[in-house]
Amino acid sequence: MERLTVKTRPIEGQKPGTSGLRKKTHTFMEPHYLENFVQSIWTGIGGVEGKTLVLGGDGRYFNDRAAQVILRMAAASGAKKVIVGQGALLSTPAASNLIRKRQTDGGIIMSASHNPGGPEEDFGVKFNTPNGGPAPEEVTNRIFEATKTIETYEILEAHDVDLAILGNKTLGDMEVEVVDPVADYAELMRSLFDFDAIAKLFASGFTMRFDAMHAITGPYACAILEGTLGAPGGTVVNSVPSPNFGGGHPDPNPIWAKGLVDLMMEPEAPDFGAASDGDGDRNMILGRGIYVTPSDSLAVLAANAHLAPGYKDGLKGVARSMPTSRAVDRVASKMGLDCYETPTGWKFFGNLLDAGRATLCGEESAGTGSDHVREKDGLWAVLLWLNILAATGKSVQQIMHDHWESFGRNVYSRHDYEGVDADRAAALMETLRTRLDTLPGQSFAGRTVEAADEFSYEDPVDGSRASGQGIRVMFEGGGRVVFRLSGTGTVGATLRVYLEDEMDDPARFGEDTQKALSDIAVAADEIAGIREHTGRDAPDVRT
Ligand code: G6P
Ligand code: ZN
Repeated sequence: MERLTVKTRPIEGQKPGTSGLRKKTHTFMEPHYLENFVQSIWTGIGGVEGKTLVLGGDGRYFNDRAAQVILRMAAASGAKKVIVGQGALLSTPAASNLIRKRQTDGGIIMSASHNPGGPEEDFGVKFNTPNGGPAPEEVTNRIFEATKTIETYEILEAHDVDLAILGNKTLGDMEVEVVDPVADYAELMRSLFDFDAIAKLFASGFTMRFDAMHAITGPYACAILEGTLGAPGGTVVNSVPSPNFGGGHPDPNPIWAKGLVDLMMEPEAPDFGAASDGDGDRNMILGRGIYVTPSDSLAVLAANAHLAPGYKDGLKGVARSMPTSRAVDRVASKMGLDCYETPTGWKFFGNLLDAGRATLCGEESAGTGSDHVREKDGLWAVLLWLNILAATGKSVQQIMHDHWESFGRNVYSRHDYEGVDADRAAALMETLRTRLDTLPGQSFAGRTVEAADEFSYEDPVDGSRASGQGIRVMFEGGGRVVFRLSGTGTVGATLRVYLEDEMDDPARFGEDTQKALSDIAVAADEIAGIREHTGRDAPDVRT
């Protein structure tokens, strides 16, 4: 086996975004593209000599080939060992768990999350640090710097490692351990939740539909929900991961998981519905006749987590990303918990979790999780909901209505304008930025602006700062609109407009969300000139 030093040149645009480097798959497949980035990861983390890493991905197109390249590059640069999920598969939370449990020096996750997969779609690579979480900006900056100066990379000339069979193998001097991707994760879930109570719930005839969206949670959900908890066969649908996710977007929201939402709105719907995304870190929660927004889900989980054995002593604190609704803030203030507001991106929760300041975190982008790993965790959220349903004996509808009665309701929706020309989107934000100081006191669509600012964050643990994290406009009476450009898109720009209003009158709880927010939506357009700047009449997606 020969160790090759391959000459290369810096490739432009290898800057990791909100969650690693995401590009079109064919870009990743261009000569040296993946190799340059992987070698730059090694540089950015101070080399891999003698280190142990975890490796796995969501099974999308190119996952298997990329895994072999990464293994050969790890071996060539002197890594001691790589722990790989069988078939090069690992959900993001399962990878985070393995990194932590086996006390490794970090890991590489191959995924573009909820973006579609296939030769014409997206691929991604991200590095997670030894705490199991996405690399903080300081590390991704070093990686990016390395991509700008790279001249050579090291790779072993070798046959593929057989990743289909479990067990220990070698690649040059490096050890490769192929592990069951589900086993350790399933054990972790058993340690957190009352599996007996959930099994009893299923045994009593409780029905559920889990849509794995042809993505990575299929094997996990089949093993845990059907295998261990006794949910009837067929509870998990679209359960076999496919390289192009069955041709769909593996994004659990009312648009891309419409089939599940439609089913749940039927009179004979199952009691509980859920879905997860490409790499298994997002979740969508539904009950018969009700869709639970991610922000509400976070609030309900915070209010009820103590019903699950893993959280029986209560929470140390909660955290949400800035655009996430303030429903969880209401729970925190009533329960006397610290509540943190962070920029968008799971990595910002890492320090709070590590420092024991927060136990539960969540984002409006369908992510919820806790300190059990350092990623958001789709199936974990589903199991915590199941534990709460089993412990309370209530339906999802009842839980939501009781929650709103106790804490009030934050009605919430996100409007996305996708594939907007990047310059026009930037101009919208810039115009808004220059107008911020003039907004307070002005009225739009009958709403008076109380305050307006651009969100910046100082990490309370290490003092690091992040600025330019989205523009917030607060209205009198508790309404709010947030404007932000997506950090995960691969084509043009996506403008996200987050609309929120407080609703305390129980008579209004049943109101249609879009209707309830219609005046805030009009105000948002008047404030930011969305139509004018984007040339769009309506959003592409309303979550
Ligand atoms: C990824 C991250 C999330 C984040 C989301 C935001 O999914 O893992 O933590 O909330 O991106 O995406 P956006 O497209 O709004 O930047
Ligand atoms: Zn994801």
